[in-house]
Amino acid sequence: MTDPASADQIEAAIRARRSIRGLEGPPLTAQVVDDLVSLACTAPAPHHTQPWRFVEVSPARRTALATAMAEAWRADMMVDGVPERQQERALARSGRQVEEAPTLLLGCLVHDGLRDYADDRRARAEWGLAQHSFGAALQNILLAAAARGLGAFWISAPLYAQEAVRSALALDAGWEPQAFVALGHPSADYRPFDRPLPDLAKHLVRR
Ligand SMILES: Cc1cc2nc3c(=O)[nH]c(=O)nc-3n(C[C@H](O)[C@H](O)[C@H](O)COP(=O)(O)O)c2cc1C
Repeated sequence: MTDPASADQIEAAIRARRSIRGLEGPPLTAQVVDDLVSLACTAPAPHHTQPWRFVEVSPARRTALATAMAEAWRADMMVDGVPERQQERALARSGRQVEEAPTLLLGCLVHDGLRDYADDRRARAEWGLAQHSFGAALQNILLAAAARGLGAFWISAPLYAQEAVRSALALDAGWEPQAFVALGHPSADYRPFDRPLPDLAKHLVRR
């Protein structure tokens, strides 16, 4: 049983976690990265599987990675008819996040142990289970990073550029890139966006 005092601390830590996009070096030590990924791997997962895989992306790979992702995103924005100047601004911002994160972790999913269904409805639901578990694993990283005084934020771009990410990082074909977590030390002047207070009248119904 958790004692009430530590329950208070855990709940305060959950409330205090914020997405910190202003990050400074130095990069996390290998030991801290190992600790965070170990905590990620305690997340709940369907059918006793462990479908998460993580890549610590070295600085040497970042430019090639950002370039490959930019190509994929530019192609999508062309299809959407996004004006060129807007494309360039978005790509530059996203490229900086990939290249400048003191530590960049990529989270992937694999199908190992998931059930195979012949019909699309259940196959999609099964993959949904894995993605739920991925969210829980990433939240463990975000919470543990915040508890250590580190800054971190989730970057969803890999999900939209899976092939580009896989090939820039020479990943196994079975690894499906999902998201980056950028990690570092919070810049003193960074202020998180306002976060609305939970509104149970909207978020909870009882039947
Ligand atoms: C699935 C998912 C994708 C996200 N993608 C991004 C992203 O690409 N870039 C970013 O800056 N934040 C991203 N975020 C962070 C959210 O913007 C952030 O959690 C939200 O604004 C609430 O702020 P908070 O985390 O400080 O409470 C993402 C969060 C989730 C759960």
